Amino acid sequence: MITVPDIIIAVDGWSSTGKSTFAKLVAKQFGFLYLDSGAMYRGVTLHALENGMISGGAVDEAALEPALAGLDLHFERPGDGSTRLFCGSRDIEKEIRTMEVSGWVSPISAIPFVRRWVDERLHSFSEKGRVIMDGRDIGTTVFPNAELKIFMTASDEVRAQRRFDELAAKGDPTSFEDVMKNLKERDYIDSHRETSPLRRAEDAFELDNSDMTLHEELVWIQGLMQGRFGILG
Ligand code: DC
Repeated sequence: MITVPDIIIAVDGWSSTGKSTFAKLVAKQFGFLYLDSGAMYRGVTLHALENGMISGGAVDEAALEPALAGLDLHFERPGDGSTRLFCGSRDIEKEIRTMEVSGWVSPISAIPFVRRWVDERLHSFSEKGRVIMDGRDIGTTVFPNAELKIFMTASDEVRAQRRFDELAAKGDPTSFEDVMKNLKERDYIDSHRETSPLRRAEDAFELDNSDMTLHEELVWIQGLMQGRFGILG
């Protein structure tokens, strides 16, 4: 019998670079568990918005900190290959992707106690097996010893267009300019915050997918997986 080692793949990068699409594809192709760390920050943000902890343009940190103790955010897999974020028994996957949540998630995720809370959960979700996790600080802070680290980039125009198309397909009327503005604001806050800012880990492989198809990204990772781990997918 072959002993299968635990492998963690960390996928970090700028907003809307297609990290989750890529990570889901790798998870499916190679049989890894996919975990979306950004969804956790979005879940905390939704909870804060729905419970009046964001008002007058500010986050009520004194109210949010104790509220986290009773917050049950976790992932469920309905069996169709998707992973959905739940708050207790409520599926919140759709609600966490709105522009309102996107507008507040970077300030919320810059709060140190929020980062500690999310990191603890990410560690507990990934206790066993092979895991691929995407985010901003997975290869630098959450799993600094990850067996494989990937850092994703793409041009601003390509990223904004992808995000705009995604929102438009869901019937969201947000303009291209607003999408671009939100993307740049998040890039700035995510990479300038004090706690665990977005940056490329020194040992990360860079993937600039501005001009790549998903199939080309797959071929790229297949080469890496075979070379690093001898895994064919
Ligand atoms: O991947 P995403 O766009 O869904 O992430 C939403 C926000 O969450 C992102 O703007 C910054 C924050 N985030 C973070 O700070 N650290 C992570 N590991 C993942 C996301």
